[in-house]
Amino acid sequence: MRHRPRRNRASPGIRALVRETSLAPSHLVLPLFIEDGHDLASPIPAMPGVFRWSVDRAVAAAREALELGVPAVALFPRIPDALKDATGSAAADLGGLTQRAVRALKDALPELVVITDVALDPYSSDGHDGVVERGKIANDATLPRLAAMAVAQATAGADVVAPSDMMDGRVAVIRDALDAAGFSDVLICSYCAKYASAFYGPFRSALDSAPKSGAGIPTDKATYQMDPANVREALREVALDEAEGADWLLIKPGLPYLDVIAAVRAATPLPVAAYQVSGEYAMLRAAAERGWVDYDRGLLESLTALRRAGADLIFTYGAVDAARRLNG
Ligand code: PBG
Repeated sequence: MRHRPRRNRASPGIRALVRETSLAPSHLVLPLFIEDGHDLASPIPAMPGVFRWSVDRAVAAAREALELGVPAVALFPRIPDALKDATGSAAADLGGLTQRAVRALKDALPELVVITDVALDPYSSDGHDGVVERGKIANDATLPRLAAMAVAQATAGADVVAPSDMMDGRVAVIRDALDAAGFSDVLICSYCAKYASAFYGPFRSALDSAPKSGAGIPTDKATYQMDPANVREALREVALDEAEGADWLLIKPGLPYLDVIAAVRAATPLPVAAYQVSGEYAMLRAAAERGWVDYDRGLLESLTALRRAGADLIFTYGAVDAARRLNG
């Protein structure tokens, strides 16, 4: 036998030399759930090990991540019902929770990359990413709200704004609004191919942001988030987001969509991000709790798979766990 592929697997040193994919803490983004209050760490039942932090504790969590080599956090606020309305107007409040958190993080940790979510759902009394008008998610009426939200976040000091709403044309509108307000250096990470996925369940329970059931309100996000059956459609979104001025393109969820990541990687020179979402994290944790899967190994394997498929950076609730393990 002349060909023995096993020779390339013979020792840790050989394997390290021929390894095709790298995974480092510098590739990771830690999503942080935040809420109003002081010294709060509210556990999220479906996401063991993940908490909703008050702003002071979020700063501590970000510091820990940064010290382990994770360069970025992505913020997701839980907004009390009393502050929600049909147009999500609190989203653009300069004194709002997200904006206060951004300021606190950038004051304490100037080198931390702070990414903010642009979508109305945490602020919407209907639980939708856009404005609901006559039972429909109104695309064009939503765009100025998103632009105002992104400008408020940039004003607070966000480095990257990340529209996750899937409205058509929003990257262009946000880019124009940021530039007009003097924020031409703020990046846009576009959730380019975001699928209408069952795997967002734990996230929606953490933020109480699920679509509300009520007369005339759609109970799912299928008219704006993508059909899980489609991949060519993702390439159409890539072309549009590139043309509109996106800096990064994000695919979400992660592991069930490796083919989409690979296709997007092949289609664009832009950095590609993957989001290992709440349901993916919950599955790993649930299986680990039963002793069925080793959490650390399962986490690193899935993150490596996302990198192998073509992701440059990965949003993961396991960022700190992974970094700790990668740092040995
Ligand atoms: C909302 C948003 C969602 C996630 C990120 N931004 C949920 C949704 O679209 O309903 C999901 C993230 C996760 O599940 O971890 N704009």
